Amino acid sequence: MKVLILGSGGREHALAWAVKRSERVTEVVCAPGNGGIAQIARCVAVDLKDLDAMVRLAEAEQPGLTIVGPELPLSLGIVDALRERGLRVFGPTRDAARLESSKGFAKQFMKRNQIPTGNYAVCTSSAEFEKAIEFFHPPIVVKADGLAAGKGVIICASRNTAIEAAHGLFSGALLGAAEQQVVIEEFLEGEEISFLCLTDGKHVAPLAPAQDHKRIGEGDTGPNTGGMGVYSTDAMLDPGMTEWVLRHIAEPTVRAMAEEGTPFTGVLYCGLMMTARGPEVLEYNARFGDPETQAILLRLESDLMDALEACVDGRLAETELRWSHGASACVVASSSGYPGSYKTGFPISGLGAAAHVPGVEIFHSGTARLGSQLVTAGGRVLGVTATGDSLDEALARAYEALVKIQFEGIYYRRDIGHRALGRKP
Ligand SMILES: Nc1ncnc2c1ncn2[C@@H]1O[C@H](COP(=O)(O)OP(=O)(O)O)[C@@H](O)[C@H]1O
Ligand SMILES: [Mg+2]
Repeated sequence: MKVLILGSGGREHALAWAVKRSERVTEVVCAPGNGGIAQIARCVAVDLKDLDAMVRLAEAEQPGLTIVGPELPLSLGIVDALRERGLRVFGPTRDAARLESSKGFAKQFMKRNQIPTGNYAVCTSSAEFEKAIEFFHPPIVVKADGLAAGKGVIICASRNTAIEAAHGLFSGALLGAAEQQVVIEEFLEGEEISFLCLTDGKHVAPLAPAQDHKRIGEGDTGPNTGGMGVYSTDAMLDPGMTEWVLRHIAEPTVRAMAEEGTPFTGVLYCGLMMTARGPEVLEYNARFGDPETQAILLRLESDLMDALEACVDGRLAETELRWSHGASACVVASSSGYPGSYKTGFPISGLGAAAHVPGVEIFHSGTARLGSQLVTAGGRVLGVTATGDSLDEALARAYEALVKIQFEGIYYRRDIGHRALGRKP
């Protein structure tokens, strides 16, 4: 079977790597892909903002399955468009993807379906916001309603800064485009866990849990990024807690989406805060996370294609996911300056030696090929990922590989997994 993957980051590299291991997969096409993905798949240029272009590509390629990586094509309706043309596609429809593409929708959905989440208000004007803010105590979380690539969440120390943030979002001064809705949220405290599940619209199968590191600096300091590293262990969520999250969060979400006439299939990513009241949903994503997917798929022992096809065909209940015990970790190597401005085009060396470290897989996030030379092409450049019998071993392997890799301005956090290990950053 030919598989088409839409996207260009480390997540898509990991997906391509995992589906290629399936005996049924004869060819992987990735659009647009990157320099690393090009080593294992045929990369074809496409603009992920252009729905028609993606549809034309899929019609020309006639893949047996299309896997949608990022959120933007989902929110544009790529799944609806491909299904209408009789093409099999893994991911939610545009209406179902509103769980991610509208934070206001997600909050109201959780409220009406008794899914645990913090207090909130959805506001459609600055005047409404100024009334609602009276009922929240600092710190206050202010969120843009729509997709904002990690730039739409502002944690405010006072009501006045929250009002300023809301003005900035409504006027367009903050994100470029004016927001129609702004969400106020109660600030939740605790450990964050990424709880991803596969779903066929009825049945839910959890993936190995993961914890992301969003901030650029060691000790979780500095600005937010797309994610600087992630780890996954069995111990981070015990079986009782996994069961609780399934019964009270993941399964009710899938059931309610079906009951409301917008059945959700694909990956349901529940971003959880483990609060003193119990797990509460911070947000949903409607797709695999990046870099969570790199660490999670390294622990998957069963065939990913079987599971993805079972989701598309509505028979996930018959499919079993098997995971390796122990742990995995992914450390992201980024360009100097990221998440601010940075330069690209620097040659990358040492990847061959790094890949020889046992248990290591290197997934490319932002690389390109310049003749025979691999060069940096993004803020996040590589996701050096490793498995181990313990988290310590997985991290040691990832860092052993990282010291062998060079490019100008290479930066990575040396404290990935520090909270799980009880290490001081
Ligand atoms: N209600 C909240 N309380 C505390 N922290 C929050 C809250 N909402 C979001 N955050 C923090 O901000 C990050 C980004 O928020 P999130 O809702 O996941 O938006 P996005 O991923 O779309 O930028 C979260 O991972 C979390 O660290
Ligand atoms: Mg998030």
